[in-house]
Amino acid sequence: MTESVLVTGGAGFIGSNFIHRWLATEGTPVVVLDALTYAGVKKNLDGTDERRLAFVHGDVNDGELVARIFEEHAPRAVVHFAAESHVDRSIVAPDAFIRTNINGTFTLLRGALAYFRQRGGDGFRFLHVSTDEVYGSLGPKDAAFTELTAYAPNSPYSASKAASDHLVRAYYHTYGLPTLITNCSNNYGPFQFPEKLIPLMVLNALEGKPLPIYGDGMNVRDWLYVGDHCDAIRTVLAKGRPGNTYNIGGKSEMANLEVVQTVCALLDELRPAAGGRKYSSLIAYVKDRPGHDRRYAIDASKISGELGWEPRETFQSGIRKTIGWYLDNPAWIALVRSGEYRQWIATQYQSSHSQESS
Ligand code: NAD
Ligand code: TYD
Repeated sequence: MTESVLVTGGAGFIGSNFIHRWLATEGTPVVVLDALTYAGVKKNLDGTDERRLAFVHGDVNDGELVARIFEEHAPRAVVHFAAESHVDRSIVAPDAFIRTNINGTFTLLRGALAYFRQRGGDGFRFLHVSTDEVYGSLGPKDAAFTELTAYAPNSPYSASKAASDHLVRAYYHTYGLPTLITNCSNNYGPFQFPEKLIPLMVLNALEGKPLPIYGDGMNVRDWLYVGDHCDAIRTVLAKGRPGNTYNIGGKSEMANLEVVQTVCALLDELRPAAGGRKYSSLIAYVKDRPGHDRRYAIDASKISGELGWEPRETFQSGIRKTIGWYLDNPAWIALVRSGEYRQWIATQYQSSHSQESS
């Protein structure tokens, strides 16, 4: 029985990027547990070394399955990505967020603790992947989030992630399970499901559809290339101190409008539209997201000072790679834009975010 790493949500955006990078550089095999929801795409794992990848199609809420995976695969670590991850969906239908993000994390923690005890408490780690959104919203001049910033989640998504973070923390303090938490800013890169800002804008632009900007487009996010996030997670898994939280950020705070304009300018260069039309002419201001957090910013000095991690990509270099990937992968785009995706886009952008002006 070779020791492995259990990766939940490994068929999603960040999980699949993590597994590609892991199997390309580390010897340890990976076991994936993924429910293959609308956001999980098994094909994302094509091209990895199949001899070192075991895929289990199942739910993190299934306690018996979780126990069986621990017993059969004896992982030396868990990297927990599985979650419902889209804020807009959490506003329309929060139930799945409570179930997967809170109850699912609890089920996984319970399984991990039983296994950890049975193993005699030896060399095991549980890394919980979380978000900067748990800290709430910043004003324009506020200092960036540190690991000591009080939690103030504002959406059902961020509230469910905050609850899961608290459970993970409690399992360290109460039971001594060696846990680590990472709170990261907005990711972008290959395999991101096109409901999120950047891939949605790329795909809409290529099809000549409106580019829906919520509110005034001045909400600020910190953007991190997904490969940098994956490297940060590996660093924390290898060197982080159990019981600790590490903030991860890209040093790339930008207003949404600027992000979309950058995407448009790159598409003008890489795939010029017919008739010389600029993609930015498709920008359309739509009704704002309810409870829309104004600004997120990350102070990543702890992970950089303690563990030596720094992002390698700038926004300019990362976004060029990302757009290149979407242009080179039309088959993937066709695959993920199935019936469920079409339904989401139709309801989200024709009713709750109906166009106000352009
Ligand atoms: P994603 O939505 O692309 O993927 C989620 C994956 O989890 C999918 O493969 C899905 O099938 C799986 N899943 C969902 N419910 C499940 C369940 N009940 N049991 C098993 N598997 C289930 O999400 P992502 O963007 O890759 O995010 C991964 C993690 O990183 C999440 O925990 C998210 O909160 C966190 N995070 C994301 C970002 C970001 O910008 N995307 C930033 C910071 C943190
Ligand atoms: P998103 O990619 O959904 O990530 P998050 O809500 O987790 O930050 O959105 C990023 C930002 O872009 C956020 O401020 C909302 C905004 N946004 C739009 O303006 N239009 C859109 O169609 C989407 C999906 C997001």
